[in-house]
Amino acid sequence: MLTPRTPIAKLIPYHSPIVSREGLSLDLNESMAGCSPRVLARLRSLTAADVSLYPQREAGERLVADFLGVSRDQVLLTNGMDEALFLMFNAYLDPSGLDKSEVLFADPTFVMYSTLGYATGVDLVRVSAGEDLSLPVEKMLAHISPSTRLIAIANPNNPTGLAACHSDLLRIVTAAPNSAALIDEAYFEFCGETMLGELAQCPNLFVGRTFSKVYGLAGLRIGVLVGAAEQIEFLRRLCVPFNVNSVALACLEEALNDQEFVRQNVSAMEEGRHALEHVFEELGLQFWPSRASFVLVKVGRASDFVTSMRQRGILVRDTSSHPGCGGCVRVTVGTPSQMKRVHIAIREAIAEIHR
Ligand SMILES: Cc1ncc(COP(=O)(O)O)c(C=O)c1O
Repeated sequence: MLTPRTPIAKLIPYHSPIVSREGLSLDLNESMAGCSPRVLARLRSLTAADVSLYPQREAGERLVADFLGVSRDQVLLTNGMDEALFLMFNAYLDPSGLDKSEVLFADPTFVMYSTLGYATGVDLVRVSAGEDLSLPVEKMLAHISPSTRLIAIANPNNPTGLAACHSDLLRIVTAAPNSAALIDEAYFEFCGETMLGELAQCPNLFVGRTFSKVYGLAGLRIGVLVGAAEQIEFLRRLCVPFNVNSVALACLEEALNDQEFVRQNVSAMEEGRHALEHVFEELGLQFWPSRASFVLVKVGRASDFVTSMRQRGILVRDTSSHPGCGGCVRVTVGTPSQMKRVHIAIREAIAEIHR
């Protein structure tokens, strides 16, 4: 029988196939405010040539480079930030065992770091956060070794929503000059803090961004990796030539130009997040002060809570399998009108599971 490499056969699928996707989707950190109307107008204006020709990434990379204030050769557009992660794990970790490679990350964090780490078959160095779930900076520093080839940090982190401070991130990046250090800024716009300004002094630093969150383009699959030009050039060699589709590329300019949409989305989300945290406070539930578009909350019987919410037409994420997140769920912040219903459902579901 045909079998894949052992690490691939042992991987846990990302989605459980039995879970229905029907309901208000507050389980995947998508933008509930949709996307800019300017993007929709661009989509409607697409021509046959926009879809019949292979996509050209270069113009989009220039746009993003100008927007971020870096040079074009420092930017790689990717098929969502997931592809940027895939490229980095493949470029810097050596599964052959000839060059002992370790990937270092903190727990809990974005699940793709462990998935890709397992898939490459290298050693995973997972450092547990303490009770407050903040980035365990000293422990991470202590676990940097000559074999560390990749450090991955989501900031703000998923599923906690917590952000680490700039100087701590810089200490980790500079402590491992022979390792790639990825700061995954998928939720940057909600938090406003970035490591982009450190690129000039840190040749091992990479910053990842995505259009899936505040821009509301998760379905188009477009992400960005920024790093030192010579490192981005290696990743460009590994990347398939037409990784970002022409529809996503066509919409990029409109998405970037509509910063008013971004501002409105951020401010509505902040309001919604505070209101959600207020509900958790009233219910006496422990939650983590989020700098992102979702909140992690300890409900106790997480799986029963998720089921109860689903019965009320709302999907939320059971994160209890993440280290340190027993009994927790992650709730994406929706629009103000959606959140009215969500608050009611949360109160009912908590009453139900504690009955
Ligand atoms: C921390 C983090 N990084 C990366 C991603 C992947 O983003 P994309 O949709 O661009 O692949 C996500 C998506 O949820 C995320 O939470």
